[in-house]
Amino acid sequence: MARGASLAGVLAAGLLLLSMGGAAAAKRRNQRQRRDIEPRFGPVEEQIWDSGLMEKKLPFATVVEKGREYYEDASQKRFKGFVLGYVTPWNKAGYQNAVTFRRKLDAVSPVWFQVRREEGKIKITGGHDYNKTWVEELQQDGPGTGPLLVPRFIMEMDMQEQVEVLTNPADLMTAIGTQVVGYKLDGIVFEAWSQWVASNGMSNEQFRRAALATVMALGQMLKANGDKKLYLAVPPLYPANEKAPWFAREDLEMLAEHVDGFSVMTYDHNTGSGKAGPNAPVHWVRTNLLLLEKGATDDAPKLSEATFAKFLLGLNFYGWDFALAPSAKRGAQGLAAVTANDFVSLLQRHQPALTWDDRTEEHSFEYTDKEGVPHSVWYPTPRSVEMRIQVAEEAKVGISIWELGQGLERFFELL
Ligand SMILES: *[C@@H]1O[C@H](CO)[C@@H](O)[C@H](O)[C@H]1NC(C)=O
Repeated sequence: MARGASLAGVLAAGLLLLSMGGAAAAKRRNQRQRRDIEPRFGPVEEQIWDSGLMEKKLPFATVVEKGREYYEDASQKRFKGFVLGYVTPWNKAGYQNAVTFRRKLDAVSPVWFQVRREEGKIKITGGHDYNKTWVEELQQDGPGTGPLLVPRFIMEMDMQEQVEVLTNPADLMTAIGTQVVGYKLDGIVFEAWSQWVASNGMSNEQFRRAALATVMALGQMLKANGDKKLYLAVPPLYPANEKAPWFAREDLEMLAEHVDGFSVMTYDHNTGSGKAGPNAPVHWVRTNLLLLEKGATDDAPKLSEATFAKFLLGLNFYGWDFALAPSAKRGAQGLAAVTANDFVSLLQRHQPALTWDDRTEEHSFEYTDKEGVPHSVWYPTPRSVEMRIQVAEEAKVGISIWELGQGLERFFELL
C-alpha cells in the first residue's frame, strides 16, 4: 500500500513537471516533490551502512524514505551480548517486529501480566493478552530456537500491600509459578523496583531486606521449576544528574546469583526535569556501568564477567517531543512520547534539519506547531542506537529494548 502511495506521488510530481515551466514553476515543483516524500516499507537489498542513515548529517528525507525499510537478511545476529526486547499489546507493530527479527532477539517480554491484591490474596490479571498465534510464530523455526518468552509481571498495588506481600511472599511465589507453568513460559521479567525506589521503600532497611529476599526466593523458585528465568526491570543505577547510585553494589552481587538479568532503564533522562534534551546521553549511559567497574572503595574488585553479562543496558526505541512554551493542549509538562510513526510524520510535515549533538550522541530537531509553539524532538536514529550498542559491546553487557513496536525497522539491523 505504501509503495502504491509513493508511486502515485512520483507520477503526480512527474505530471506537474510536464505542465509547468520557468523558475517559479521549478521552485513550486521542488516544494511539491519534497512534500511527496513517502516512507517505504519492507525488506530491501541495501544495507544500512550504504543507506546514508548512519551519518551525523542526516537529511530528513533519508529517514522518511529509508527508516522503515530493513535489510532483507534478518537471520544474523550482529551484537554479541544478550538482547531482551519488550512488546506492548497496545502497539501491534511490536508483535510483528518480534517475529520478523526473532533471530536477533534472545528474549522477548510481552507486557501482559499485572500482580494485584484482592481481599488479602494475590490475583494475577492480564492472561487475556496471551496470544497463542504469535507465540507459535515466534517459535516457528522449531522448538527451542525462538527467543525466550519471558512476559513482564508488574506489581500493581500500594506500598502497604507491598509490605504485606514482601513480608510473607509464599502466596506471590505460588501465583507467579502457576502462571509460568500454565502458559509454558520460559521465565518472567519482574517489575517492582521503580516503585520501591520512588516510594523510598528501598531506603528503609527492613523493607530493603524483605524486597531482596523476595526477589532471591522468586529466582530460586523459578529455577527449581525447570530452569525458568528471572529478569528484573530496574531504574537507571545512577538517577539523572545524581552522583551516587541508588543501588548498592553488594546488593547487585548478591542478587546476581539468583537473577538472569537486570533490565536497566537507561533512558528518559530529561523527562523528570521537563527540560528539552537527550533521552540517554551517552556519558550518562556509561556512568551506569561504573557500578560494575568500581565498588564503594577504589580497591574493590571489578564484578565478574558473568555479572557483567547479566547487565542489560536499556535502549529506547521511542523518543520525546518537548513543547518549549506552555501549551494547554499538551498538558502542563508539554511532553509527548514519540514513536516511529510520529517521528516520520513529523519529519514529513515539517521537513526540519536534524542536528547531531557530539557530546550526548543524539540527533534532534525543532519545529513550530499550528499555534506557534516551538517544539524540540529527541528520537533515536540509527547512529545514536549504534553508539549505545557499541558501549554495550565494549563493556561486554547485554541490552534491553523498550520497545520493539516503537522503533524504526532499520534499528533492528544493528542488533
Ligand atoms: C496475535 O498475534 C498475531 C500474530 O502475530 C497478530 O496478527 C494479532 O494481531 C495478535 N492479536 C492480538 C489481539 O494482539
